[in-house]
Amino acid sequence: MKAYVQRTFGGPGDLELTDIPTPAPAAGEVLVRVRATSVNPYDWHLLRGEPRVARLMPGLVGLRGPKSAIPGCDLAGQVEATGPGVTQFRPGDDVLALVSHGCYAEYLTVPEALLARMPGNTSYEQAAAVPMAALTALIGLRDTGRVEPGQQVLVNGASGGVGTFAVQLARAFGARADGVCRAANAELVRSLGADTVIDRGTADFTRCGKRYDLMLDIAGTRQVPACRRVLSPAGTMVLIGGPAGRWLQPAGHVFAAMAMGRLVRQRVALTDTVTGPDRQENLRTLAKLIEDGRLSPVIGARYPFARLPQAIADQESGRIPGKVVITL
Ligand SMILES: NC(=O)c1ccc[n+]([C@@H]2O[C@H](COP(=O)([O-])OP(=O)(O)OC[C@H]3O[C@@H](n4cnc5c(N)ncnc54)[C@H](OP(=O)(O)O)[C@@H]3O)[C@@H](O)[C@H]2O)c1
Repeated sequence: MKAYVQRTFGGPGDLELTDIPTPAPAAGEVLVRVRATSVNPYDWHLLRGEPRVARLMPGLVGLRGPKSAIPGCDLAGQVEATGPGVTQFRPGDDVLALVSHGCYAEYLTVPEALLARMPGNTSYEQAAAVPMAALTALIGLRDTGRVEPGQQVLVNGASGGVGTFAVQLARAFGARADGVCRAANAELVRSLGADTVIDRGTADFTRCGKRYDLMLDIAGTRQVPACRRVLSPAGTMVLIGGPAGRWLQPAGHVFAAMAMGRLVRQRVALTDTVTGPDRQENLRTLAKLIEDGRLSPVIGARYPFARLPQAIADQESGRIPGKVVITL
């Protein structure tokens, strides 16, 4: 099978498109033919081995070189074969999943417990936009943020992969949502259900004069003391991401915010999608919302498999709203 293999830390141009053996599903695993995948900041963080501080932490990054040969964590595709003991899926089923790596390939094996059926009304392309970004928005709002109907929610980073799902999900949970993004993306964010969109180029959202019950901090551009100005006294700030850097960011931003969060009255909490539990059940929840027409993936750019390195570079540039999707 064809796969993009990463032999050293580096940029998208260092990925090598090569032929490797197709894996066979072990007990409890499913072999999936990848039909579409997408790019998340997580992928290029792992690709570059940055922030470098992450190389020192136990996990996926690796100390001297990448721990995983094939990047890519979002998957939409078709079940090709099942290993012994698999009960939920059979060949031909359309599935989606969030995995730690391996999606930038024609095939991969996935534990049955991580897979969910694709929503009946989406293409592979649309389904591949969902796993990482929509799960993050769902967990951030519902589980970490404990959103309630009628609440006022502010999404900082509303036009990106996570943000476009977050604005729609806030509305689906009965809350009101405002968004922060660049002026060029304001109309998109409004079309997703935001009441007010704050242009980050001309206005400081922390001085907008409004108070929110919940703030989803996806862009991570301001520190906790400034964000507190827009939180109600019992409000919650959910930390999701931050500006990327070579050595420390966004990890430094998140750790600093967690430390500062201990000193303030409002709740400051962290969302971690990659290690979060209940992935299959949460994907089913998202699939149902999509089937009911209450959630719709926003695709900002599409690429064929042969141009996958360009797709990663363009996602990293920050110019593309919504999700960057690759079809195979
Ligand atoms: N905690 C987790 O488990 C988890 C999971 C997924 C993602 N993340 C993190 O969440 C962040 C966003 O992920 P994503 O997939 O949504 O990325 P994305 O698609 O690249 O979106 C980034 C967003 O930030 C905005 N932005 C960029 N530069 C900005 C700046 N200087 N000031 C204010 N806003 C800026 C962008 O739009 P505008 O230019 O329109 O403002 C966009 O809305 C990343 O840091 C990622 O690593 C964390």
